Amino acid sequence: TKQYEYILTSKPAEGVALITLNRPKALNALSSPLFAELNEAVAEFDEDHSVGAIVLTGSERAFAAGADIKEMKDKTLNEVYQNRFLEDWGKITSLRKPIIAAVSGYALGGGCELALMCDIILASPTATFGQPEINIGVIPGGGGTQRLARVIGKSRTMELTLTGRTFSAAEAESWGMVSRVVGEGDGKVVEEAVAMAKTIASKGRLAVQAGKEAVNAAYEQTLREGLNTERKLFHMLFATHDQKEGMSAFAEKRKPVWKNA
Ligand code: CAA
Repeated sequence: TKQYEYILTSKPAEGVALITLNRPKALNALSSPLFAELNEAVAEFDEDHSVGAIVLTGSERAFAAGADIKEMKDKTLNEVYQNRFLEDWGKITSLRKPIIAAVSGYALGGGCELALMCDIILASPTATFGQPEINIGVIPGGGGTQRLARVIGKSRTMELTLTGRTFSAAEAESWGMVSRVVGEGDGKVVEEAVAMAKTIASKGRLAVQAGKEAVNAAYEQTLREGLNTERKLFHMLFATHDQKEGMSAFAEKRKPVWKNA
């Protein structure tokens, strides 16, 4: 895979791509060049047929400590509005393949928002989340107010946005924002995320893509529309080899062989 300046990429297990944010001196602050590389890498892996799922992580100390405050501090209204500052961050949400965030350490501001853009969040007990933008005179700009409100509700989101206080992995888990807090020990959360990504990558790709699309509809559509989207995607899968194979294999008591077709 390609060499980047602010991220590392690898393929640690069959079907799995791993992206590691690598700007340690700035606690992985999400500068524009870093985000451009991240967008390029996820696009590359989304196209790569050897990849079925992606894991995104940072360091033990910081998943990401937010947008790059030093880069932002002198920007004018004209610059941020005309150049649609942060709009390209959303690209991660239009991937076909699942992306799992493995969060250790600080996930603040844009770092918390980046985790929320992923499909699944696993957190180490050291993870510290927060939307502290209020402390620097602004509000979240990478989707924090919207995605958090949908995931953890209005009252908590309002409290976090307006006080800027951080919250723990345990709180994030009890609120349903992270699917699991993963054990003690350095690297454990990444190991676990890679294992989960490997499991997902071992399934039929079309069903995985449809499953992701259907769950995402729950966040974008009304219940009636979402149920309709789910059923249409379910029906659609009856046109695939993998549906015939999966159901025949069950009836014949053998393992299915997916063709991703
Ligand atoms: N942008 C730029 N640089 C950052 C940064 C950020 N978001 N976060 C940390 N850094 C830099 C620090 O400036 C410092 O650099 P120097 O060594 O050159 O001084 C280095 O990373 C290490 O940081 P600290 O010395 O501050 O480390 P610490 O352990 O004392 O504190 C911290 C860690 C609590 C995370 C603290 O760094 C901090 O509060 N960071 C800012 C968090 C924040 O406000 N994030 C929101 C940003 S705004 C945003 O994200 C907008 C949006 O919605 C998109």
